[in-house]
Amino acid sequence: MSTNKEDEMLIVQGDEDRDKEIFSAGFIPGWIGEGGLQPEPTNEFEGASWSWERARELLISASKSINPRVAERRNIRMANPAKDKRTSLNTLHASYQMVAPGEFARSHRHTVNAGRFIIESSGAFTTIDGEKVPMLENDILLTPNWIWHGLGNDSTENGAFWIDFLDDPLVSSLKTIFFEVRDENYKDMKNNIQSPFVISWKNVQELLEEAAASPTEMYGQRVKLDSSAIPTMEIYVEKFAAKTNTTPNKSTSGRLFICVEGSGYTKVDEKKFDWRRGNVIAVPSWHNFSHFSETESILFEINDEPVIQAFGWYREE
Ligand SMILES: [Fe+2]
Repeated sequence: MSTNKEDEMLIVQGDEDRDKEIFSAGFIPGWIGEGGLQPEPTNEFEGASWSWERARELLISASKSINPRVAERRNIRMANPAKDKRTSLNTLHASYQMVAPGEFARSHRHTVNAGRFIIESSGAFTTIDGEKVPMLENDILLTPNWIWHGLGNDSTENGAFWIDFLDDPLVSSLKTIFFEVRDENYKDMKNNIQSPFVISWKNVQELLEEAAASPTEMYGQRVKLDSSAIPTMEIYVEKFAAKTNTTPNKSTSGRLFICVEGSGYTKVDEKKFDWRRGNVIAVPSWHNFSHFSETESILFEINDEPVIQAFGWYREE
């Protein structure tokens, strides 16, 4: 039958010599292996969570042998549990970091955009663009692309701890990372308690008081914060009443959630990831997720939506 003949013509005929010749000329036959086109995205990163309680113990123990003057920074990376990953998601990454009492780390700058959520501090500071900015608990400090930033701790008794979040997997995949270091004299630096690079907890709380709950029940009360200094990332704060269950959804954006207060869990696909203060949850793009709050709770969310939106690739279900 003629239709069979046409079908036959569409079947790739095995021919090792033909394929070898193509390989040896520096090509790959397009009919071998996977092409780039699939009906929908696959993201090999997995849902994941990291415990602040455990991270704190590990950092205190590392502070006895790791000196940031030598190691640049004392941090532990929240690497995704999927095979061979060193970053939290394919576009975003987070680490826990500590500065010991009385310690200073030199200043550096990089094309990677970053922010830090302060978990514990009594006298720690970040230098941003030549000014000393106090690190206050629950504040977020932004260190954008190519801005000098160093850090130190004026407390002689207490270590300071925070969560760094960065777009370095994205900048790295685009091969646009630059990095420089310099020494700064912190002693002579002026304090800035109104830095434009700070999202203050006080301000966040005021915004939350006026926020309405999500009509789609995809969120709790959710407010977008001003993070325009780091244009690859959006930051939201989200507040849940006790026993709130959000509607499962997925989108083409990767998301990191930091628990500020309260307790509950985030379900990613079929797995549950518990949160309480300081824990971080990673939700890869195009994986289903929903939140459940045991108690009244507040989460920060950092996502890569601005990048995905910029080129018309944002979709949600
Ligand atoms: Fe940095």
